[in-house]
Amino acid sequence: MTLLQATGLVKQYGHVRALNGADFDVDAGEVVALIGDNGAGKSTLVRMLSGSEVPDGGEIRLNGERVRLDTPATARGLGIETVFQDLALAPHLDPVQNMYLGREIMHPGLLGRLGFMDNHAMREGSKAAFAKLGATVRNLSGAVGSMSGGQKQGVAVARAAAWVSKVIFLDEPTAALGVVQTRNVLDLIRRVADEGIGVVFISHSMPHVMEVADRVQVMRQGRMVATYRAKDTNMEQLVAAMTGAFSREEAK
Ligand SMILES: Nc1ncnc2c1ncn2[C@@H]1O[C@H](COP(=O)(O)OP(=O)(O)O)[C@@H](O)[C@H]1O
Ligand SMILES: [Mg+2]
Repeated sequence: MTLLQATGLVKQYGHVRALNGADFDVDAGEVVALIGDNGAGKSTLVRMLSGSEVPDGGEIRLNGERVRLDTPATARGLGIETVFQDLALAPHLDPVQNMYLGREIMHPGLLGRLGFMDNHAMREGSKAAFAKLGATVRNLSGAVGSMSGGQKQGVAVARAAAWVSKVIFLDEPTAALGVVQTRNVLDLIRRVADEGIGVVFISHSMPHVMEVADRVQVMRQGRMVATYRAKDTNMEQLVAAMTGAFSREEAK
């Protein structure tokens, strides 16, 4: 059964139809690359599937059951984590606080019931998550807003990878990263998928797409126009699909 499946999603912003009947699907343990020209609707699709916005039409199914992802907390509660293109970290909080934002570990016992957080546990948990990613977060107690783009990206990716249980969306996760950090994220994508998670990866880098994706879904003008197994396609075919050199092709 398909882990997460969207059918016929529609999203209108004023006169712009950002999604015009978009289909999408990802299986457990699969890396899907979502590609398309700027404005094709990739980030809008991710917002619909991560509960940041509700589509005007279409349906979303998780393990075959229809779901309404009306808030980010709803999506997270169902095991869907997202690294947004604009990151959406809390700039005034430190990396540890960002890691646990909205799900702080409570002390057991009386203090827990009164709502005190276990700072030590959160710090250790964050360190482990950053180490797993190979992210160098030098200052665990400095405001995230003052960090470099690469460090912020590391915090955002580590946070999503630490909490995901079903599907993780990574909207251009390597855009702000150097060579070593990019390598770490690409390796992480594979490792997370190997744990049975569905990984959705948006990138403009065709070499990265060809390297990590099992399947490539191509968006154009708010629709999914083609799906290919990565091993059965090539860059020329992907670029042709992105630019509309043909109208629709299925090669799943
Ligand atoms: N909040 C918004 N308000 C108005 N138009 C939007 C909004 N978000 C996206 N759009 C428009 O929807 C289309 C798809 O955008 P987007 O999903 O960001 O594409 P992509 O991520 O593939 O570059 C674009 O024409 C964009 O300008
Ligand atoms: Mg985008």
